[in-house]
Amino acid sequence: MAEAILKIFRGTREGGAPAEYRVPVAPGMVVLDALHYVQQHQAPDLAVRWNCKAGKCGSCSAEVNGRPRLTCKTRMDTLPQDKPISILPMKSFPIIKDLVTDVSWNYKVNKKIPPFQPRAGVEWKIYQEDVDRVQEFRKCIECFLCQNVCHVLREHDKQEQFGGPRFFVRVAGLEMHPLDGLNRTRLLKNELGIGFCNITKCCTEVCPEDIHITDNAIIPLKERVVDDFYDPLLGLVRNIRNAVSPSKRQPK
Ligand code: SF4
Ligand code: SF4
Ligand code: FES
Repeated sequence: MAEAILKIFRGTREGGAPAEYRVPVAPGMVVLDALHYVQQHQAPDLAVRWNCKAGKCGSCSAEVNGRPRLTCKTRMDTLPQDKPISILPMKSFPIIKDLVTDVSWNYKVNKKIPPFQPRAGVEWKIYQEDVDRVQEFRKCIECFLCQNVCHVLREHDKQEQFGGPRFFVRVAGLEMHPLDGLNRTRLLKNELGIGFCNITKCCTEVCPEDIHITDNAIIPLKERVVDDFYDPLLGLVRNIRNAVSPSKRQPK
């Protein structure tokens, strides 16, 4: 049976280093299987977060050979076997132990976003194309691989000023819902710092759900922010239109 060498980070936020483990590679094996093999046979104290092993819970995120991935969706036979496979924790979040990171900051950002607010006085009718549009954003499994790869968080540590691509996806799902009655552009501009995003598309490249984060969520949201805060003519038109027929309102 073929054998792979894994170089897995072992340690805590105080420090650590990659350790080498040899693992037999069976057909169809994924990286998470290899980690479980190590846990079972060589290092029972190896900390790995996982749950579904089906690409749906978003728990098993790590950096495999330098690329953020779900370990349960990364087949061993897609990785070069002639050199060690590096498996590191996500870099943008504090390490708890080995491959497990503290992603709780994301849940704090999530709390800043007002949930769906039904629009008053409209018929509850929704077209299929509107359903399709927001459905894409509901596919997010909160793996935070996009948050991990975004340079605004990864290199510039703007956690206080920036919400990150996962939360632009969440806001897009609410803002583009035809029956939602809130306008979250002020939140996007001031608290989620959408202006820091310079459309590098790195988030889109790593999304395991193939959500077109930049093209379908971030760019349309940026356009709404520009319309609301930087285009006086459109602002005037919107004010007149709202006086006749109220549309989305900003949260208090
Ligand atoms: S497109 Fe924007 S949100 Fe996505 S990784 Fe680049 S800077 Fe971050
Ligand atoms: S948008 Fe994609 S990469 Fe980001 S958390 Fe959701 S599923 Fe993961
Ligand atoms: S274990 Fe659930 S996504 Fe990998």
